[in-house]
Amino acid sequence: MSEQTLSNLSREERRFEPPADLAADANVKAEAYARAEEDREAFWAAAAERLDWGQKWDQVLDWSDPPFAKWFVGGTINAAVNCVDRHVDAGRGDKVALHWVGEPEDDTRDITYAELKDLVSKAANALTDLGVKKGDRVAIYMPMIPEVVVAMLACARLGAPHTVVFGGFSADALASRLEDCEAHVVITSDGGYRRGAASALKPAVDEAVEKTGDLVRNVLVVRRTGQDVDWHEGRDVWWHDAVDSASAEHEAELHDSEHPLYVMYTSGTTGKPKGILHTTGGYLTGTSFTHWEVFDLKPDTDVYWCTADVGWVTGHSYMVYGPLANGATQVMYEGTPEKGRWWQIVQDYKVTIFYTAPTAIRTFMKQGREIPDGYDMSSLRLLGSVGEPINPEAYVWYREVIGGDRCPVVDTWWQTETGQIMISPLPGVTAGKPGSAMKALPGVGADVVDDEGNSVPDGSGGYLVLTKPWPAMLRTLWGDDQRFKDTYWSRYPKQGFYFAGDGAKKDEDGDLWMLGRVDDVMNVSGHRLSTTEIESALVSHPKVAEAAVVGAADETTGQAVCAFVILRESAGDGGPDIVEELRKHVQKEIGAIAKPRQIMVVPELPKTRSGKIMRRLLKDVAEHREVGDVTTLADSTVMDLIKDKEGSAASSEE
Ligand code: WT7
Repeated sequence: MSEQTLSNLSREERRFEPPADLAADANVKAEAYARAEEDREAFWAAAAERLDWGQKWDQVLDWSDPPFAKWFVGGTINAAVNCVDRHVDAGRGDKVALHWVGEPEDDTRDITYAELKDLVSKAANALTDLGVKKGDRVAIYMPMIPEVVVAMLACARLGAPHTVVFGGFSADALASRLEDCEAHVVITSDGGYRRGAASALKPAVDEAVEKTGDLVRNVLVVRRTGQDVDWHEGRDVWWHDAVDSASAEHEAELHDSEHPLYVMYTSGTTGKPKGILHTTGGYLTGTSFTHWEVFDLKPDTDVYWCTADVGWVTGHSYMVYGPLANGATQVMYEGTPEKGRWWQIVQDYKVTIFYTAPTAIRTFMKQGREIPDGYDMSSLRLLGSVGEPINPEAYVWYREVIGGDRCPVVDTWWQTETGQIMISPLPGVTAGKPGSAMKALPGVGADVVDDEGNSVPDGSGGYLVLTKPWPAMLRTLWGDDQRFKDTYWSRYPKQGFYFAGDGAKKDEDGDLWMLGRVDDVMNVSGHRLSTTEIESALVSHPKVAEAAVVGAADETTGQAVCAFVILRESAGDGGPDIVEELRKHVQKEIGAIAKPRQIMVVPELPKTRSGKIMRRLLKDVAEHREVGDVTTLADSTVMDLIKDKEGSAASSEE
């Protein structure tokens, strides 16, 4: 290879050893790596033993027809029974499963495992009355209220795969998902609370159902806000009518280990969303085990909180299935991270394990540490991050300001497709490096390879691949085996690797650093640069809270680095020389090659609803093009703010 697949630019020397008490008592210790290496299938079989099965499996893994995996072949299991009933049967019925916190002040509900069991059983009976049978798909379009968890588990109990559509999505998005998976029943609510006001959900369902002809037979509606709703007699059913009166006795059937559990749609870069299919036994094994392993969950004493919306895979794997299968007590919050509210909740419920996204952390950094400093967060013992690369500066801020410099931070890399965490430090084993997801978990195979699929040496960059099947892996794309093969398995057919679509590098110790989606990689004067590294250099400047970097066409260098930055509130407008200051800073941190040609100070960045920066739109701005499709933006007005800035003095172009 004449040139590196992806240049390795940044350096990070800080290390954080695991706290001694955590290390001594850790659920998973260092020996697990060697044990898993020796016999991967035995390792995952032991993880599956943590669950309750009906029929035990005959074969751990059937990989005779790649890329179509079967895990725990011949085994039978019920996901809802594992998440709820078995804790009640074991005498833990009085334990709180959910500390639910509504957005309006003092609107809270504590739900024990025994109560959850009754609710799930009632909902399963109500769905059966509506004609839902094993194998039928049920769409769920709801806010963050307890009923969404109940609805998911009721579907799982019946073996009716759910497809949860994020409540922020439009009627069109909902309609296309209903059609793709042919759902005849939709569960929704009149509305939910967001930013202090009741916002409606039911109208979007009505519109989507209209669009899909006579596909949808029933709409089950939770009354959350009490706002007026249009009612379609014969089709619409109130949850409180159907569920509250149903029997709390429900005999759960055992399903085949490979029975579909859910379909989760993720937007491909273009075109039709992909319906990621997860099945039952392997998924529950992968999520429950990694939740116990990576967060070192002690179910008797921990209070766990994952801030993700249930509409994303993180909400499925690490709010619903993983934690509940482990019998955890957790917080669930309806609202958005308004200043201070999250920390108030951490203080009130004495949260011990906290899992959130870098985009939230950087927003809090921008607002300043005075806000979290006003709360007692001494209960916290472990922090997690997911969704994007966490810049070293954001990691250190998270660790110091939120974690009081005592909590390890686990930077967890995974995808909707992987279902479970794949790459992460082990909190009781690994000395953390800010910005690195460290290495593949025990039992997981990951590598960084070049274009030909050769493993790159330590100190170089390339493409992230997964080299071995894992229990919670997607089984296919709903109704489209060919697209499944083409998208994930066609890049390295000889080696049979799963291609994740991410760039990554190995540092001198062989630890992994995620460098963003390969579609975002820039090529400057023949050097392939990662957006992530330059963004991290910008965020390491004391005036910067958040940065997004894109490569814009450039006559001399092919592409040039263009940066968009949000300043911390404490930095005001940054001063007259801010652009030059930042360009010099990047040069000092990583070298002249990475020095941005152009830097724009902006008030906001365009993000998807799950918080990922949409660099494609910024590229349009940097290349002075008409801005492309903004329909997946969380806030479609953001691009106008940025375009306004483009004409103003804050931009400097040489
Ligand atoms: C993509 C998957 C995993 C649940 C939420 C997102 C990026 C995710 C990390 C991390 C660097 C990360 C990757 C990945 N990503 N976690 N810890 N470090 N990048 O799920 O929407 O399917 O997105 O998110 O680019 O491919 P998703």
